[in-house]
Amino acid sequence: MPYRTIIEPFRIKSVEAVKFTTREERREALVRAGYNVFRLHAEDVLIDLLTDSGTGAMSAAQWSAIMQADESYAGSRSFYRFESVIRDLTGFAHVIPTHQGRAAEHILFRTRLRPGQVVPNNNHFDTTRANVEAEDVEALDLVIEEGRVPGLIHPFKGNMDLGALERLLETRGERVPLVMVTVTNNSGGGQPVSLENLRGVRRICDRYRKPLFLDACRFAENAWFIKTREPGQAGRSPKAIAQEMFSLADGCTMSAKKDGLSNIGGFLAMNDPGWAEAARNLLILTEGFPTYGGLAGYDLEAIARGLEEVVEEEYLRYRIRSIEYLGEKLIGADVPIIRPPGGHAIYLDARALLPHVPPLQYPGIALANELYLEAGIRGAEIGTVMFGLRPDGSERPGPMDLVRLAIPRRVYTQSHVDYVAEAVIAVAGLRGRMRGYRIVSAPKTLRHFTAAFAPLE
Ligand code: F0G
Repeated sequence: MPYRTIIEPFRIKSVEAVKFTTREERREALVRAGYNVFRLHAEDVLIDLLTDSGTGAMSAAQWSAIMQADESYAGSRSFYRFESVIRDLTGFAHVIPTHQGRAAEHILFRTRLRPGQVVPNNNHFDTTRANVEAEDVEALDLVIEEGRVPGLIHPFKGNMDLGALERLLETRGERVPLVMVTVTNNSGGGQPVSLENLRGVRRICDRYRKPLFLDACRFAENAWFIKTREPGQAGRSPKAIAQEMFSLADGCTMSAKKDGLSNIGGFLAMNDPGWAEAARNLLILTEGFPTYGGLAGYDLEAIARGLEEVVEEEYLRYRIRSIEYLGEKLIGADVPIIRPPGGHAIYLDARALLPHVPPLQYPGIALANELYLEAGIRGAEIGTVMFGLRPDGSERPGPMDLVRLAIPRRVYTQSHVDYVAEAVIAVAGLRGRMRGYRIVSAPKTLRHFTAAFAPLE
Protein backbone atom coordinates (compact mmCIF):
# COMPACT_ATOMS: atom_id res chain seq x y z
CA MET A 1 0.00 0.00 0.00
CA PRO A 2 1.48 3.36 -1.00
CA TYR A 3 -0.23 5.40 1.76
CA ARG A 4 1.31 6.01 5.17
CA THR A 5 -1.83 6.90 7.13
CA ILE A 6 -3.00 4.04 9.31
CA ILE A 7 -6.77 4.38 9.64
CA GLU A 8 -9.22 2.95 12.15
CA PRO A 9 -10.02 -0.42 10.53
CA PHE A 10 -13.77 -0.06 11.16
CA ARG A 11 -16.61 2.34 10.60
CA ILE A 12 -19.00 3.46 13.31
CA LYS A 13 -22.59 2.22 13.40
CA SER A 14 -23.69 3.30 16.84
CA VAL A 15 -22.50 6.31 18.83
CA GLU A 16 -22.66 7.42 22.44
CA ALA A 17 -22.58 11.13 23.32
CA VAL A 18 -19.95 12.38 25.77
CA LYS A 19 -20.84 15.07 28.30
CA PHE A 20 -18.99 18.38 28.42
CA THR A 21 -18.55 19.98 31.84
CA THR A 22 -17.14 23.27 33.09
CA ARG A 23 -13.96 23.54 35.14
CA GLU A 24 -16.07 24.52 38.16
CA GLU A 25 -18.28 21.44 37.75
CA ARG A 26 -15.20 19.25 37.57
CA ARG A 27 -13.72 20.90 40.64
CA GLU A 28 -16.90 20.12 42.60
CA ALA A 29 -17.00 16.56 41.26
CA LEU A 30 -13.38 16.01 42.32
CA VAL A 31 -14.08 17.26 45.85
CA ARG A 32 -17.12 14.94 46.08
CA ALA A 33 -14.87 12.08 44.91
CA GLY A 34 -12.35 12.68 47.72
CA TYR A 35 -9.77 13.70 45.09
CA ASN A 36 -9.74 10.11 43.81
CA VAL A 37 -10.73 9.84 40.14
CA PHE A 38 -11.84 6.22 40.69
CA ARG A 39 -14.72 7.70 42.71
CA LEU A 40 -15.97 10.09 40.02
CA HIS A 41 -19.23 9.48 38.23
CA ALA A 42 -18.10 8.40 34.75
CA GLU A 43 -20.68 10.75 33.27
CA ASP A 44 -18.60 13.68 34.53
CA VAL A 45 -15.60 12.48 32.50
CA LEU A 46 -15.10 13.67 28.91
CA ILE A 47 -12.45 11.18 27.77
CA ASP A 48 -12.12 8.19 30.03
CA LEU A 49 -8.65 6.65 29.99
CA LEU A 50 -8.94 5.09 33.45
CA THR A 51 -8.62 1.63 32.00
CA ASP A 52 -8.66 -0.41 28.81
CA SER A 53 -10.46 -3.16 30.74
CA GLY A 54 -14.03 -3.95 29.76
CA THR A 55 -14.32 -0.56 28.07
CA GLY A 56 -13.85 -1.62 24.45
CA ALA A 57 -16.45 -1.43 21.69
CA MET A 58 -17.79 -4.73 20.43
CA SER A 59 -18.20 -5.48 16.74
CA ALA A 60 -21.46 -6.09 14.93
CA ALA A 61 -20.37 -9.75 14.69
CA GLN A 62 -20.05 -9.93 18.48
CA TRP A 63 -23.45 -8.36 19.02
CA SER A 64 -25.06 -10.81 16.63
CA ALA A 65 -23.24 -13.75 18.27
CA ILE A 66 -24.80 -12.55 21.53
CA MET A 67 -28.26 -13.06 20.06
CA GLN A 68 -27.32 -16.60 19.06
CA ALA A 69 -26.16 -17.57 22.55
CA ASP A 70 -27.34 -20.65 24.39
CA GLU A 71 -28.20 -19.86 28.03
CA SER A 72 -28.37 -23.47 29.23
CA TYR A 73 -27.01 -23.88 32.74
CA ALA A 74 -24.94 -26.94 31.86
CA GLY A 75 -23.33 -27.94 28.59
CA SER A 76 -24.34 -24.81 26.68
CA ARG A 77 -23.44 -24.69 22.99
CA SER A 78 -21.84 -21.30 23.67
CA PHE A 79 -19.43 -22.87 26.15
CA TYR A 80 -18.24 -25.41 23.58
CA ARG A 81 -17.65 -22.63 21.07
CA PHE A 82 -15.72 -20.64 23.73
CA GLU A 83 -13.71 -23.72 24.65
CA SER A 84 -12.83 -24.60 21.08
CA VAL A 85 -11.65 -21.06 20.22
CA ILE A 86 -9.46 -20.98 23.34
CA ARG A 87 -8.09 -24.48 22.77
CA ASP A 88 -7.20 -23.57 19.20
CA LEU A 89 -5.44 -20.38 20.36
CA THR A 90 -3.69 -21.64 23.49
CA GLY A 91 -3.43 -25.40 23.04
CA PHE A 92 -4.41 -25.87 26.71
CA ALA A 93 -6.55 -28.92 27.40
CA HIS A 94 -8.67 -27.50 30.22
CA VAL A 95 -10.59 -24.23 29.77
CA ILE A 96 -12.37 -22.84 32.81
CA PRO A 97 -14.51 -19.71 32.35
CA THR A 98 -14.51 -17.07 35.11
CA HIS A 99 -16.30 -13.76 35.53
CA GLN A 100 -13.04 -11.83 35.06
CA GLY A 101 -9.27 -12.17 35.31
CA ARG A 102 -8.90 -11.85 39.06
CA ALA A 103 -11.35 -14.71 39.60
CA ALA A 104 -9.06 -16.94 37.53
CA GLU A 105 -6.11 -15.72 39.63
CA HIS A 106 -7.98 -16.34 42.86
CA ILE A 107 -8.88 -19.90 41.86
CA LEU A 108 -5.36 -20.71 40.68
CA PHE A 109 -3.70 -19.23 43.76
CA ARG A 110 -6.20 -20.56 46.29
CA THR A 111 -5.80 -24.11 44.96
CA ARG A 112 -2.00 -24.05 44.43
CA LEU A 113 -0.31 -21.68 46.91
CA ARG A 114 0.62 -22.34 50.55
CA PRO A 115 1.67 -19.74 53.15
CA GLY A 116 5.38 -18.86 53.07
CA GLN A 117 5.82 -19.56 49.35
CA VAL A 118 7.09 -17.15 46.67
CA VAL A 119 5.59 -16.44 43.23
CA PRO A 120 7.93 -14.75 40.72
CA ASN A 121 6.51 -12.68 37.85
CA ASN A 122 8.01 -9.99 35.60
CA ASN A 123 5.61 -7.56 37.34
CA HIS A 124 2.48 -8.56 39.21
CA PHE A 125 -0.44 -6.28 38.46
CA ASP A 126 -2.33 -4.86 41.46
CA THR A 127 -5.05 -7.50 41.78
CA THR A 128 -2.60 -10.31 40.95
CA ARG A 129 -0.24 -9.14 43.70
CA ALA A 130 -3.16 -8.81 46.12
CA ASN A 131 -4.43 -12.31 45.30
CA VAL A 132 -0.95 -13.77 45.86
CA GLU A 133 -0.48 -11.86 49.12
CA ALA A 134 -3.95 -12.92 50.30
CA GLU A 135 -2.51 -16.46 50.50
CA ASP A 136 0.39 -15.20 52.69
CA VAL A 137 2.70 -15.69 49.74
CA GLU A 138 5.39 -13.28 48.55
CA ALA A 139 4.77 -11.70 45.10
CA LEU A 140 8.25 -11.12 43.66
CA ASP A 141 8.82 -8.85 40.63
CA LEU A 142 11.78 -9.95 38.49
CA VAL A 143 11.52 -7.72 35.41
CA ILE A 144 14.84 -6.88 33.72
CA GLU A 145 16.71 -3.80 35.01
CA GLU A 146 15.87 -1.85 31.80
CA GLY A 147 12.16 -2.34 32.59
CA ARG A 148 12.49 -0.25 35.73
CA VAL A 149 13.86 2.88 34.01
CA PRO A 150 11.03 4.89 32.39
CA GLY A 151 13.06 6.81 29.80
CA LEU A 152 15.27 3.95 28.69
CA ILE A 153 14.53 2.49 25.24
CA HIS A 154 14.54 -1.31 24.90
CA PRO A 155 12.35 -3.38 22.55
CA PHE A 156 11.21 -5.85 25.24
CA LYS A 157 11.13 -4.00 28.54
CA GLY A 158 8.70 -6.58 29.92
CA ASN A 159 11.29 -9.37 29.79
CA MET A 160 11.97 -11.46 32.86
CA ASP A 161 15.45 -11.23 34.40
CA LEU A 162 16.49 -14.82 33.68
CA GLY A 163 19.53 -14.63 35.97
CA ALA A 164 17.39 -13.47 38.88
CA LEU A 165 14.81 -16.20 38.21
CA GLU A 166 17.53 -18.83 38.15
CA ARG A 167 19.04 -17.53 41.41
CA LEU A 168 15.62 -17.61 43.07
CA LEU A 169 14.99 -21.20 41.98
CA GLU A 170 18.53 -22.21 42.99
CA THR A 171 18.29 -20.73 46.49
CA ARG A 172 14.56 -20.91 47.34
CA GLY A 173 13.24 -23.22 44.64
CA GLU A 174 11.37 -25.50 47.03
CA ARG A 175 9.20 -22.53 48.01
CA VAL A 176 8.20 -21.62 44.44
CA PRO A 177 4.99 -23.41 43.37
CA LEU A 178 4.79 -21.80 39.91
CA VAL A 179 6.33 -19.07 37.77
CA MET A 180 4.25 -16.35 36.07
CA VAL A 181 4.96 -14.00 33.18
CA THR A 182 2.61 -11.10 32.38
CA VAL A 183 2.17 -10.29 28.66
CA THR A 184 2.27 -7.40 28.11
CA ASN A 185 3.72 -6.16 31.37
CA ASN A 186 1.01 -3.77 32.55
CA SER A 187 2.50 -2.23 35.69
CA GLY A 188 5.84 -1.90 33.90
CA GLY A 189 4.30 0.22 31.14
CA GLY A 190 2.42 -2.21 28.88
CA GLN A 191 5.81 -3.46 27.70
CA PRO A 192 6.18 -6.69 25.73
CA VAL A 193 8.04 -9.91 26.49
CA SER A 194 10.03 -11.48 23.63
CA LEU A 195 9.65 -15.07 22.44
CA GLU A 196 13.34 -15.54 23.15
CA ASN A 197 12.80 -14.48 26.77
CA LEU A 198 9.76 -16.75 27.13
CA ARG A 199 11.81 -19.65 25.77
CA GLY A 200 14.49 -18.83 28.34
CA VAL A 201 11.93 -18.83 31.17
CA ARG A 202 10.63 -22.17 29.87
CA ARG A 203 14.12 -23.72 29.91
CA ILE A 204 14.68 -22.59 33.50
CA CYS A 205 11.24 -23.85 34.56
CA ASP A 206 12.01 -27.21 32.94
CA ARG A 207 15.35 -27.45 34.73
CA TYR A 208 13.72 -26.83 38.12
CA ARG A 209 10.46 -28.64 37.24
CA LYS A 210 8.22 -25.62 37.78
CA PRO A 211 4.97 -24.93 35.93
CA LEU A 212 4.85 -21.68 33.95
CA PHE A 213 1.64 -19.63 33.74
CA LEU A 214 1.07 -16.62 31.53
CA ASP A 215 -1.02 -13.69 32.75
CA ALA A 216 -2.31 -13.37 29.20
CA CYS A 217 -4.66 -10.33 29.35
CA ARG A 218 -2.88 -8.54 26.49
CA PHE A 219 -1.40 -11.51 24.62
CA ALA A 220 -2.34 -10.20 21.15
CA GLU A 221 -0.69 -6.81 21.70
CA ASN A 222 2.38 -8.70 22.91
CA ALA A 223 2.31 -10.89 19.77
CA TRP A 224 2.23 -7.77 17.57
CA PHE A 225 5.35 -6.39 19.26
CA ILE A 226 7.08 -9.73 18.70
CA LYS A 227 6.09 -9.64 15.03
CA THR A 228 7.38 -6.10 14.53
CA ARG A 229 10.43 -6.11 16.83
CA GLU A 230 11.85 -9.59 17.19
CA PRO A 231 14.30 -10.78 14.52
CA GLY A 232 12.83 -13.43 12.23
CA GLN A 233 9.18 -12.93 13.30
CA ALA A 234 7.95 -10.37 10.75
CA GLY A 235 6.54 -12.95 8.33
CA ARG A 236 4.37 -14.78 10.88
CA SER A 237 0.75 -14.06 11.70
CA PRO A 238 -0.03 -12.60 15.15
CA LYS A 239 -2.10 -15.70 15.85
CA ALA A 240 0.79 -18.07 15.06
CA ILE A 241 3.05 -16.04 17.36
CA ALA A 242 0.42 -16.07 20.12
CA GLN A 243 0.07 -19.84 19.72
CA GLU A 244 3.80 -20.22 20.21
CA MET A 245 3.72 -17.97 23.30
CA PHE A 246 1.03 -20.17 24.85
CA SER A 247 2.82 -23.37 23.81
CA LEU A 248 5.74 -22.36 26.03
CA ALA A 249 3.50 -22.27 29.13
CA ASP A 250 1.59 -24.85 31.16
CA GLY A 251 -1.43 -22.64 31.64
CA CYS A 252 -2.71 -19.08 31.77
CA THR A 253 -4.97 -16.68 33.57
CA MET A 254 -6.87 -14.34 31.30
CA SER A 255 -9.00 -11.24 31.64
CA ALA A 256 -11.13 -11.24 28.48
CA LYS A 257 -11.93 -7.58 29.26
CA LYS A 258 -8.70 -6.63 27.49
CA ASP A 259 -7.65 -8.70 24.46
CA GLY A 260 -10.88 -10.70 24.62
CA LEU A 261 -12.55 -7.52 23.26
CA SER A 262 -15.36 -8.17 25.68
CA ASN A 263 -16.97 -6.07 28.42
CA ILE A 264 -16.71 -8.81 31.03
CA GLY A 265 -15.24 -12.29 31.42
CA GLY A 266 -12.06 -14.26 31.70
CA PHE A 267 -10.72 -17.77 32.01
CA LEU A 268 -8.18 -20.05 33.57
CA ALA A 269 -6.64 -22.65 31.27
CA MET A 270 -4.07 -25.36 31.88
CA ASN A 271 -2.84 -28.77 30.83
CA ASP A 272 -2.61 -30.58 34.18
CA PRO A 273 -5.83 -32.58 34.79
CA GLY A 274 -5.34 -32.67 38.58
CA TRP A 275 -4.89 -28.90 38.83
CA ALA A 276 -7.91 -28.41 36.57
CA GLU A 277 -10.08 -30.65 38.73
CA ALA A 278 -9.21 -28.73 41.90
CA ALA A 279 -9.84 -25.46 40.06
CA ARG A 280 -13.25 -26.62 38.79
CA ASN A 281 -14.29 -27.69 42.28
CA LEU A 282 -13.52 -24.24 43.66
CA LEU A 283 -15.14 -22.67 40.59
CA ILE A 284 -18.43 -24.38 41.41
CA LEU A 285 -18.24 -22.99 44.93
CA THR A 286 -17.46 -19.39 44.01
CA GLU A 287 -18.22 -18.71 40.31
CA GLY A 288 -20.62 -21.26 38.87
CA PHE A 289 -20.89 -24.51 36.96
CA PRO A 290 -17.79 -25.29 34.83
CA THR A 291 -19.54 -24.56 31.53
CA TYR A 292 -20.41 -20.97 32.44
CA GLY A 293 -18.21 -19.93 35.39
CA GLY A 294 -20.03 -16.74 36.35
CA LEU A 295 -20.76 -15.66 32.78
CA ALA A 296 -23.91 -15.59 30.66
CA GLY A 297 -23.92 -17.69 27.51
CA TYR A 298 -23.87 -14.42 25.56
CA ASP A 299 -20.63 -13.36 27.28
CA LEU A 300 -19.02 -16.64 26.21
CA GLU A 301 -20.08 -15.92 22.61
CA ALA A 302 -18.75 -12.34 22.71
CA ILE A 303 -15.39 -13.53 24.05
CA ALA A 304 -15.10 -16.37 21.51
CA ARG A 305 -15.65 -13.94 18.66
CA GLY A 306 -13.46 -11.25 20.30
CA LEU A 307 -10.50 -13.62 20.57
CA GLU A 308 -10.73 -14.21 16.82
CA GLU A 309 -10.95 -10.50 15.95
CA VAL A 310 -8.14 -9.40 18.26
CA VAL A 311 -5.43 -11.25 16.33
CA GLU A 312 -6.38 -9.69 12.97
CA GLU A 313 -3.40 -7.81 11.53
CA GLU A 314 -5.34 -4.69 10.50
CA TYR A 315 -6.72 -4.36 13.99
CA LEU A 316 -3.37 -4.80 15.77
CA ARG A 317 -1.52 -2.49 13.38
CA TYR A 318 -4.03 0.28 14.13
CA ARG A 319 -4.18 -0.51 17.85
CA ILE A 320 -0.45 -0.33 18.50
CA ARG A 321 0.01 2.64 16.16
CA SER A 322 -2.69 4.65 17.94
CA ILE A 323 -0.81 4.37 21.23
CA GLU A 324 2.51 5.16 19.57
CA TYR A 325 0.92 8.20 17.88
CA LEU A 326 -0.05 9.69 21.24
CA GLY A 327 3.40 8.82 22.61
CA GLU A 328 5.17 10.57 19.73
CA LYS A 329 3.25 13.78 20.32
CA LEU A 330 4.09 13.81 24.03
CA ILE A 331 7.75 12.92 23.48
CA GLY A 332 7.91 15.70 20.88
CA ALA A 333 6.78 18.16 23.57
CA ASP A 334 9.25 16.79 26.14
CA VAL A 335 6.57 15.32 28.40
CA PRO A 336 8.30 12.47 30.29
CA ILE A 337 6.67 9.09 29.55
CA ILE A 338 7.68 5.46 29.68
CA ARG A 339 9.53 4.77 26.45
CA PRO A 340 8.94 3.27 24.05
CA PRO A 341 5.12 3.54 24.25
CA GLY A 342 3.49 0.27 25.34
CA GLY A 343 0.62 -1.68 23.83
CA HIS A 344 -2.46 -0.35 25.57
CA ALA A 345 -1.52 2.89 27.29
CA ILE A 346 0.78 5.85 27.65
CA TYR A 347 2.34 6.11 31.09
CA LEU A 348 3.18 9.66 32.16
CA ASP A 349 6.20 9.78 34.46
CA ALA A 350 4.78 11.91 37.28
CA ARG A 351 7.92 11.50 39.41
CA ALA A 352 10.04 13.08 36.65
CA LEU A 353 7.46 15.75 35.81
CA LEU A 354 6.90 16.82 39.43
CA PRO A 355 10.30 16.54 41.14
CA HIS A 356 9.05 18.94 43.83
CA VAL A 357 6.38 16.42 44.94
CA PRO A 358 8.03 13.54 46.85
CA PRO A 359 6.67 10.00 46.25
CA LEU A 360 4.96 9.86 49.64
CA GLN A 361 2.98 12.96 48.64
CA TYR A 362 1.73 11.05 45.58
CA PRO A 363 2.82 12.90 42.43
CA GLY A 364 0.67 10.51 40.36
CA ILE A 365 -2.46 11.64 42.19
CA ALA A 366 -1.48 15.29 41.75
CA LEU A 367 -1.05 14.86 37.99
CA ALA A 368 -4.16 12.69 37.46
CA ASN A 369 -6.32 15.21 39.32
CA GLU A 370 -4.92 18.18 37.39
CA LEU A 371 -5.58 16.39 34.10
CA TYR A 372 -9.19 15.84 35.06
CA LEU A 373 -9.63 19.37 36.35
CA GLU A 374 -8.12 21.01 33.28
CA ALA A 375 -9.42 18.79 30.49
CA GLY A 376 -11.97 16.27 31.79
CA ILE A 377 -9.57 13.41 31.05
CA ARG A 378 -9.41 10.54 33.54
CA GLY A 379 -6.19 8.55 33.93
CA ALA A 380 -5.07 6.24 36.72
CA GLU A 381 -2.21 6.50 39.19
CA ILE A 382 0.14 3.54 38.98
CA GLY A 383 2.61 4.44 41.68
CA THR A 384 3.04 4.86 45.38
CA VAL A 385 -0.68 4.75 46.17
CA MET A 386 -1.13 1.54 44.18
CA PHE A 387 2.12 -0.22 45.10
CA GLY A 388 3.61 1.62 48.10
CA LEU A 389 1.68 -0.13 50.89
CA ARG A 390 3.44 -3.25 52.20
CA PRO A 391 1.54 -6.24 53.63
CA ASP A 392 2.82 -5.22 57.12
CA GLY A 393 1.07 -1.83 56.79
CA SER A 394 4.23 0.25 56.27
CA GLU A 395 4.54 2.58 53.31
CA ARG A 396 7.40 3.20 50.90
CA PRO A 397 7.72 4.78 47.44
CA GLY A 398 6.35 2.57 44.64
CA PRO A 399 8.81 1.39 41.95
CA MET A 400 7.72 4.36 39.78
CA ASP A 401 5.11 7.12 40.03
CA LEU A 402 3.11 6.98 36.83
CA VAL A 403 -0.22 8.15 35.48
CA ARG A 404 -1.54 5.66 32.99
CA LEU A 405 -3.64 6.87 30.09
CA ALA A 406 -5.15 3.56 28.97
CA ILE A 407 -6.84 3.61 25.57
CA PRO A 408 -10.08 1.59 25.34
CA ARG A 409 -10.16 -0.64 22.27
CA ARG A 410 -11.98 0.68 19.17
CA VAL A 411 -13.67 3.49 21.17
CA TYR A 412 -11.90 6.80 20.56
CA THR A 413 -10.90 8.27 17.20
CA GLN A 414 -7.75 10.11 16.21
CA SER A 415 -9.26 13.52 17.04
CA HIS A 416 -9.97 12.35 20.60
CA VAL A 417 -6.32 11.35 20.83
CA ASP A 418 -5.23 14.72 19.40
CA TYR A 419 -7.28 16.43 22.12
CA VAL A 420 -5.65 14.24 24.79
CA ALA A 421 -2.17 15.12 23.51
CA GLU A 422 -2.94 18.84 23.46
CA ALA A 423 -4.38 18.71 26.99
CA VAL A 424 -1.55 16.66 28.49
CA ILE A 425 1.03 19.03 27.01
CA ALA A 426 -0.86 22.02 28.44
CA VAL A 427 -1.16 20.40 31.87
CA ALA A 428 2.54 19.51 31.86
CA GLY A 429 3.17 23.22 31.40
CA LEU A 430 1.38 23.85 34.72
CA ARG A 431 3.72 21.52 36.61
CA GLY A 432 4.99 24.26 38.92
CA ARG A 433 1.59 24.85 40.48
CA MET A 434 0.78 21.20 41.27
CA ARG A 435 1.00 20.21 44.93
CA GLY A 436 1.09 16.85 46.66
CA TYR A 437 -1.69 15.08 48.54
CA ARG A 438 -2.15 13.25 51.80
CA ILE A 439 -4.41 10.26 52.43
CA VAL A 440 -7.50 11.01 54.53
CA SER A 441 -8.83 7.45 54.63
CA ALA A 442 -7.90 4.19 52.92
CA PRO A 443 -8.48 0.43 53.28
CA LYS A 444 -5.58 -1.91 54.05
CA THR A 445 -5.44 -3.60 50.63
CA LEU A 446 -5.95 -2.28 47.10
CA ARG A 447 -6.28 1.18 48.61
CA HIS A 448 -6.04 3.07 45.32
CA PHE A 449 -9.62 2.17 44.36
CA THR A 450 -11.37 3.77 47.31
CA ALA A 451 -8.92 6.00 49.24
CA ALA A 452 -9.86 9.64 49.91
CA PHE A 453 -7.20 12.34 49.60
CA ALA A 454 -6.75 15.99 50.59
CA PRO A 455 -4.47 18.46 48.81
CA LEU A 456 -1.44 19.70 50.75
CA GLU A 457 -0.95 23.45 51.11
N1 F0G B 1 -3.61 -9.09 35.14
C1 F0G B 1 -3.31 -7.93 34.52
C2 F0G B 1 -1.97 -7.77 33.87
C3 F0G B 1 -4.25 -6.90 34.48
O1 F0G B 1 -3.96 -5.77 33.86
C4 F0G B 1 -5.52 -7.10 35.10
C5 F0G B 1 -6.52 -6.04 35.11
C6 F0G B 1 -5.79 -8.33 35.71
C7 F0G B 1 -4.81 -9.30 35.70
C8 F0G B 1 -7.11 -8.62 36.37
O2 F0G B 1 -8.14 -8.75 35.44
O3 F0G B 1 -9.70 -6.85 35.93
O4 F0G B 1 -10.47 -8.87 34.68
O5 F0G B 1 -9.99 -9.02 37.09
N2 F0G B 1 -6.24 -4.86 34.80
C9 F0G B 1 -7.17 -3.76 34.66
C10 F0G B 1 -6.40 -2.52 34.34
C11 F0G B 1 -8.17 -3.62 35.73
O6 F0G B 1 -6.98 -1.42 34.45
O7 F0G B 1 -5.24 -2.60 33.96
P1 F0G B 1 -9.65 -8.34 35.82
